[in-house]
This record gives sequence, C-alpha cells and structure tokens, in this order.
Amino acid sequence: MADFDPWDPAFLADPYPAYAELRAEGRVRYFEATNQWLVPHHADVSALLRDRRLGRTYQHRFTHEDFGRTAPPAEHEPFHTLNDHGMLDLEPPDHTRIRRLVSKAFTPRTVERLKPYVRELAGELVDALVEKGGGDLLTDVAEPLPVAVIAEMLGIPEADRAPLRPWSADICGMYELNPSQETAARAVRASVEFSAYLRELIAARREKPGDDLISGLIAAHDEGDRLTEQEMISTAVLLLNAGHEATVNATVNGWWALFSNEDQLAALRADHSLVPSAVEELMRYDTPLQLFERWVLDEIEIDGTVLPRGAEIAMLFGSANHDPEVFAAPEKLDLTRKDNPHISFSAGIHYCIGAPLARLELAASMTALLEKAPTLRPTAPPSRKPNFVIRGLEGLRVEVG
Ligand code: HEM
Repeated sequence: MADFDPWDPAFLADPYPAYAELRAEGRVRYFEATNQWLVPHHADVSALLRDRRLGRTYQHRFTHEDFGRTAPPAEHEPFHTLNDHGMLDLEPPDHTRIRRLVSKAFTPRTVERLKPYVRELAGELVDALVEKGGGDLLTDVAEPLPVAVIAEMLGIPEADRAPLRPWSADICGMYELNPSQETAARAVRASVEFSAYLRELIAARREKPGDDLISGLIAAHDEGDRLTEQEMISTAVLLLNAGHEATVNATVNGWWALFSNEDQLAALRADHSLVPSAVEELMRYDTPLQLFERWVLDEIEIDGTVLPRGAEIAMLFGSANHDPEVFAAPEKLDLTRKDNPHISFSAGIHYCIGAPLARLELAASMTALLEKAPTLRPTAPPSRKPNFVIRGLEGLRVEVG
C-alpha cells in the first residue's frame, strides 16, 4: 500500500513518490484516517471537478443527519457562519448568484488596471531586499506583495492591515485534514474578530462609497439580487484569505524549487521571456494547494467502486499534477513545458476567480527578483510548514550580491 501519511514530516518533505505509488495502485482508495476516498489521477480529478453529482457542501440539499454526520459544535458557529456564506463553500443556485455578483466587481479589467501598481510594488520590495543584502524571501517579498494588493483592492486602510495575515492563517487552519480543537478555537476567535472588523468597514463604505471592491460589492446588483450583509462579510474574508495564502506559498515553494534545480534557474536567468511558462510549471511542480474535497450528493462509480451519497472524496491536486499520463517526465522541472494543463487553479464552477491576479503577482515578483537580484541564493535549506493541504515554507533565507 502506498505510504500516504499527510501527518508524517517525511511525506510532507516530498509527497510526490507516495502519489506515484497511489496512482499505480488504482484510481480510488479509501483512507480511513479521514474517512475519505482518495483520487490521485489527473483524468479523474479533472472530471470530478466538473461533475454536478458532487458538491463542496451538501447543506443545500441534505441535513447533517441525512449524511450520517453530526452538526458542528455550537461554539464553532462563528467560523461556519463565515465559511458557509462564501461562494467557495456554496453550490448553485447561491454559488451562481454570488459568483456573478462578485465577478461584476472583480473583472479582468480590474486586474489589468492593477498591473503597473503590482509591478511597482514588487520592484520596491525587491529593492529593499537587495539593499539589505538579503533576508527572508517569505516575509520580505512573497507575503507583503499579495497581502498589500488584495487589501488595496478591497480598500482596507494600511493602518488596519497587520491582523489580516494572522486572522487568515488561523481561519485556514480549518482547511487541513482533521483539525484539532485548538485549531478550531483559534479559527473561531479569528472569525469573530475579522467579521466584526469588516462589518464596521462595510458600514463606513455604505455611508461613503469609495473606488474599492467592498464599495463595488455593496453596489453590485443583478436583476434585483444583492449580497446580504453576511454574504458580503464572507466574500470579503474569502477574497482576502484566498487572495494571498496560496500566492505566498507558491512564491516561496517556487523559488525553493528553482534553487534546487540550478540548470533551470540558470536558463530562466538567461531568458526572462520564460517567466510566464515558469510560473505555470512551478505551480504544477510543487502544487501550493494539495487537496480539495467534494461530497457525493448522488451516487457515482469510479473504476467499479461505488461511492454512495454521503461519501467524501479527496482529490489529490499534487498527484494529478504529476500524472505521467498527462505530463511527460512529471518529476522533472521544465520551465519550457508547453503543454501544461495543471489543475492548481481547479476546474468547473469553483475555478479560481483570482487566477489572473495570482499569475500577475507571481510573474511580477519573479521578474523583479530576476532583474534586480540576479545573484539571489539561499543561505540555508528552509523548513517546511507542518501543513499538508496548504503547502508552504516557514521562511526562505536568501542573500544577494
Ligand atoms: C497561486 C495562487 C492561487 C491558487 C493556487 C488558487 C487556487 C484555487 C483553487 C484550487 C480554487 C478552487 C477550489 C475548489 O475547486 O474546491 C480557488 C478558488 C477561489 N480562489 Fe483561488 N487561488 C490562488 C489565488 C487566488 C487569488 C489571488 C484570489 C483573489 C482574489 C483567489 C480567490 C479565489 C476565490 C474567491 C475562489 C472561490 C471560487 C468559487 O468558489 O467559485 N485565489 N482558488
């Protein structure tokens, strides 16, 4: 049996060999520790993401009892209220309505307009890193860029931004497998504080609208539809959290992969036009979000295994992105890879709404680092965060010059 143990530091250090074993074993395998069905192949993950017999939630059609589950404890309610009203954890028709309203405020044009600002900010952050002769790529560049961009888009005043990262980290703890009571308590506290903060900010923007996304969400309406107050709070939190967590990790995972593959880094340094394909390849090679779950709403069958209503599926994005049936030499980092249908931004109705922004930010920081810090190198191997689903590093110490 493949050595799939998402709590084992050796597995976390490099989960890809275990994924290869899982794929060789078959298309679906029961994992008792989380009571989920693991799906490791690209073709299956890709099809299941588009399969309407599955859902991110079941609560639009069934009760917890119908699904043989117990309702979450009452003290976790602030987290669930926040989470369950964001589009990521909704299914149609609510998902369709909210995504359409948010898309009105979060358009490709909005992202296009941000280009000069994102590039300038990336340049400034890298200049400061170079001036110091090095530092921590995570806290000096990877983190401040997407946090500032999404905070700026939503119109969060600069003086209020310090708690955003800790709130987000505490809430995101709940997306790991089998979160502990302590993780839940932290997520609840963060949910209460974050919601209270946004409730006030939304009230202020109602009084005095600005040129920001929160004012856009307040104004967005569609054939009489509007976002409720709770949906607005949940949407703002989702955009703030999703808007930086994965991008921070993709940046440092990506640079560590480059430092570990010197020939590829040399090729990139010699030809900056590789940046767009490098961004895609690094997102594939070390997948920032490793696993996404779906509930079986109506029975499905995978390779002869019947998954009944109420079963939970865990789609292994990191494995799908290393499937040799789709990617030639998947364990090789190849920044020139042309055919790269990685699944890191998902597919189907929940496809990442922020993908164009993430791509812009990743390309901007990479370009700035290539141009302004051509001798950038690590000073020590980084330590890995103990998380599985949200894959990242604790930090990445570097020097320049
Ligand atoms: C490297 C960076 C990013 C990665 C890898 C990523 C990945 C993903 C994935 C995999 C999903 C869908 C999950 C599922 O199908 O269950 C998703 C959804 C989402 N992402 Fe991203 N994301 C990134 C950056 C961003 C950014 C910058 C934003 C910005 C605002 C954002 C906002 C969202 C939202 C709102 C959803 C929910 C969409 C829906 O449910 O319809 N993401 N993202």
